[in-house]
Amino acid sequence: MAGFSFGDLSRYPDIEAGNLFAVDAADRLILDEAADEVVASGNNAVVIIGDRYGALTLGAADLLDDEDSLRVHQDSITGELALANNAAVLAPDAGFTQYALGRELLTGARVVLLQLPRSLEALDQIADAVARWAADDVVLFAGGLTKHMTPAMNEVLRKYFGTVRAGLGRQKARVITAREVQRPGTEPEPTARQFHQDLGLWVCSAPGTFAGTKVDIGTRFLLGFLPRLETSSGAAVDLGCGTGIIAARLAALYPELQVSATDQSAAAVESAAATAAANGLAGHVNAVRDDAMGSFPDASVDLVVCNPPFHAGAAVHAGAALKLFGAAARVLRPGGELLVVYNSHLDYRSRLRSTVGPTQQLGRNRKFTVTRSIRR
Ligand SMILES: C[S@@+](CC[C@H](N)C(=O)[O-])C[C@H]1O[C@@H](n2cnc3c(N)ncnc32)[C@H](O)[C@@H]1O
Repeated sequence: MAGFSFGDLSRYPDIEAGNLFAVDAADRLILDEAADEVVASGNNAVVIIGDRYGALTLGAADLLDDEDSLRVHQDSITGELALANNAAVLAPDAGFTQYALGRELLTGARVVLLQLPRSLEALDQIADAVARWAADDVVLFAGGLTKHMTPAMNEVLRKYFGTVRAGLGRQKARVITAREVQRPGTEPEPTARQFHQDLGLWVCSAPGTFAGTKVDIGTRFLLGFLPRLETSSGAAVDLGCGTGIIAARLAALYPELQVSATDQSAAAVESAAATAAANGLAGHVNAVRDDAMGSFPDASVDLVVCNPPFHAGAAVHAGAALKLFGAAARVLRPGGELLVVYNSHLDYRSRLRSTVGPTQQLGRNRKFTVTRSIRR
């Protein structure tokens, strides 16, 4: 493949800004450290996990022949769309296929390139899958920015590999190389669960999902306002659903609502479906992996409830929340209702007013504000 350049990669459809990038030093270091093994492994033996916007996949494809194929797993559909978009524009000959994390992704893999996840549980799940399904001689190159890496990551990898070696840092990135795979025993449960007595609610969480099986304090504050909604029937969306606590509560409170729980993360969508099922609401909550409700038609929804993200990847950035407010404005019908909880210092109220419509404060405590906007 000729002419691929990291500098041309775009984050689209993820938010873009001067201080947000589509490639980082970890992508470059992983590819440099793994290059010889990628070339030696060749067709269908290289797997990419956790690629952000396509740097790892298109960088690895650049090392291989045009007819060679790569297998890829990305938790985020936003990243999946960005990779597809970058490939179409920059590397139309790159051959890669997306898979869920599991047997099909990893069987026969001899090299795995991994952008380290933030959560140790997510790393454990990935390392287990690699150790369970990949070839006997698999080598895992797991990289990240040093500021996000901890010694505990080495310990997780040592559960599954006989040799775990952290390489030298370069431009604030580092790669851990793991070899001599040790096959794990029984497959782990896909989701953990916890019953919250005070809420009468089971919360299920796949590794890496926001707040795990706990209930975030902002979410908890928001739940208190759900019994007083104007909308009690029609279509409702828990936007950025995480473990699907809001969706489950909406479905339990309002039997006439058709509730969708939607998130960009595969782990979140799996969790939300499991949370609904654990609370006897499986038929009542539809879990959808989607980037900012991209698959929902305009003006098709009566109610959106959202506890928005305050970061984009690892960077604190309001753009991620503003993107969801814009999406809510698009999918809500005129007169439809948007409930949002946010850290009070963020002062999203004027943005909600300009993006969605008239916005009133429903409540405020020491830390959080809950607002209701009516789609104009
Ligand atoms: C603060 S968490 C809230 C999770 C859950 N609603 C709760 O209250 O526990 C924000 C969620 O938004 C999701 N998210 C961020 N950007 C998104 C996007 N563009 N489309 C869909 N979901 C997104 C994240 O994956 C994360 O699960």
